[in-house]
Amino acid sequence: MGERNKLAVIGDPIGHSLSPLLHNTMAQELNLPYDYTARQVTVEQLADWVQTVRQEGWSGFNATMPHKLHLLDLVDEKTEEVVYFGAINTVRNDKGHLIGHNTDGDGFANMLAEHGLTFRNARVAVLGAGGAAGAIIRKAVRDGAAAVTVCNRTVEKARSLCREHPDVLHAAALDTPLPGDTDLLINTIPVGGNVGDDALANLRRDCAVIDILYAPPKTPLLLAAEERGMLAVNGLGMLIHQAILAFAFFTGASFDQPEMARILYKTTCNLTKSGVVSS
Ligand code: ATR
Repeated sequence: MGERNKLAVIGDPIGHSLSPLLHNTMAQELNLPYDYTARQVTVEQLADWVQTVRQEGWSGFNATMPHKLHLLDLVDEKTEEVVYFGAINTVRNDKGHLIGHNTDGDGFANMLAEHGLTFRNARVAVLGAGGAAGAIIRKAVRDGAAAVTVCNRTVEKARSLCREHPDVLHAAALDTPLPGDTDLLINTIPVGGNVGDDALANLRRDCAVIDILYAPPKTPLLLAAEERGMLAVNGLGMLIHQAILAFAFFTGASFDQPEMARILYKTTCNLTKSGVVSS
């Protein structure tokens, strides 16, 4: 068997990452010689890791917290997505020249599309104003959302995000009733944030509810939405579509992405039920 190209996901903590399973399944399906592993890399170790990637000829890597911002200073080139989103989650090594990329926004939009949803002209409410919320909010603006209400426990953090596009973005406290004409409600607050049916009180039945968490597969918010007959979607699709875009970026392979997503849903559906996986 010939030499295999090395890929990885780095993070701290890295936990029970789903990324190796997703990428190795894609490599197998497409018959491409890539091996993808998970590596714990601390902030202090990040510069050494980047050096290792260059020296050992790794093909590329994905990065999760806490590295998405630190990598901005360590790559040789940034794609237009990195410039727009201000963070890096994917790095490709082109013969020692490292190109930083970001698949967060497009991965989220591809997941929406799979459910017949779009940001275009939508009235959106986002719970949380951290890193994940920032990517989703910027993608919503870029794709032409009509209005985005950003609700956060620390309102100043929401205000700070909203300053980027004051015509579309509006900050609010987390306990503020959401606009009744909301088309898409997106939760980015982790379990323990006690986001539940209160958030849904004002919303129409045809508002779709998305939680970027996927373990457990049905958060209290998604269960409450289902009980009200609303479309409820967890974050597995976002992770799967980000991985598909990253794999295409690493390898240059072109393939049927919706079909690959179906394969990856099948591969992961039993694992996420156990509730012990992370990105
Ligand atoms: P991520 O990158 O996943 O978005 P993050 O940047 O740490 O993670 O952001 C977490 C978000 O969840 C923040 O908006 C945080 O609110 P604050 O800005 O007020 O800290 C929110 N959050 C976390 N725990 C929460 C809780 N128990 N109740 C309400 N909001 C919570």
